[in-house]
Amino acid sequence: MPDYGFATRAIHAGQEPDPTTGAVIVPIYQTSTFAQDDVGVHKGYEYARSGNPTRTALETALAALDGGAYGLAFASGLAAETTVLLTLLKSGDHVVCGDDVYGGTYRLIKRVFEDKGISASFADTSDPAKVAAAMRPETKLLWIETPTNPLLKLADIAALSALARDHGALTLVDNTFASPALQRPLELGADMVLYSTTKYHGGHSDVVGGALITNNLQLHERLAYVQNAAGGVPGPFDCWLVLRGIKTLFLRMREHSANGLAVARLLLEHPAVEKVFYPGIPEHPQYELARRQMHDGGGMVSFLLHGGEAAARNVVRRTKLFTLAESLGGVESLIELPAAMTHASVAGSSLEVPAGLVRLSVGIETIDDLLADLKQALDS
Ligand SMILES: Cc1ncc(COP(=O)(O)O)c(C=O)c1O
Repeated sequence: MPDYGFATRAIHAGQEPDPTTGAVIVPIYQTSTFAQDDVGVHKGYEYARSGNPTRTALETALAALDGGAYGLAFASGLAAETTVLLTLLKSGDHVVCGDDVYGGTYRLIKRVFEDKGISASFADTSDPAKVAAAMRPETKLLWIETPTNPLLKLADIAALSALARDHGALTLVDNTFASPALQRPLELGADMVLYSTTKYHGGHSDVVGGALITNNLQLHERLAYVQNAAGGVPGPFDCWLVLRGIKTLFLRMREHSANGLAVARLLLEHPAVEKVFYPGIPEHPQYELARRQMHDGGGMVSFLLHGGEAAARNVVRRTKLFTLAESLGGVESLIELPAAMTHASVAGSSLEVPAGLVRLSVGIETIDDLLADLKQALDS
């Protein structure tokens, strides 16, 4: 597709009108198999684990959004993660991963893959020197989340990708928090971008999915092979929901970022709040890096209260518009306690998060309503 802007790609890439019927929206090809004219003679599809036209449309759109050449869609973010680890690592290999990542990522690397002879070091990816110190001759993969979940730390994607390359390792960026509307890691030198499309791509908290995007054909072919061989693929309706979501990704991220900033400012000024974690404010220790590699601050905000865990539990009980729930990236605002919810699987590890940390996924509701809801929960 020509060099269109982001919003145009989101609406059109891979989504031409259906050649048979003229349907403007990509149909949900709810079929598991495809007729063949003769043995091996078909229209490009044989069996829906290997390929489905609705998934092809999504994979094309996913790649286009990240400025990548190749996209793969998965049944969940973790299915995408599993595919990367299965594809790139064998017994004896080593992975360096951020020390503040989604709890399920830590669980997969530490509790599932370490049993298979793959070792892992968890390093502070906000400090390139610490990443360099963690690299070993057998390191094959550097795994970065930026901003991190849940402490919103940033990693310098360009610097770390160059560092990994010097060590002969590939770099993967989990870009779930920023989405491609705010940050495009391939353009900064990363080898792969990973998403839980459950979050901002889907955008409406009604689907679970994952994605991998790369510009490297050889890498793509290896990942696609394992995608089919291991089989963690999304169904056509789920692909369609994510496709529908990404048409408005650009608009939603603008609102998420504006609301996220307003919420961060309210929290900064509130006497009950001890510390605010948000990359879009000058108080963030890596604000300059945020301005360099992100287009905006996004919708994820975390904070600590002077009253610790008890105060945090009270706040999450009191909000009315911010629903107490796991996940993020939907149009509606959510609130949670990572230590007890999304990050329970890192309890007792070096990645443990403060028990009183509150994480917000700031939605796109009317900002005055969101601010009033948080204020009443913090005041009482
Ligand atoms: C940053 C990040 N990466 C990956 C995942 C895993 O994605 P999924 O839940 O779609 O398997 C999550 C889920 O919360 C996440 O927050």
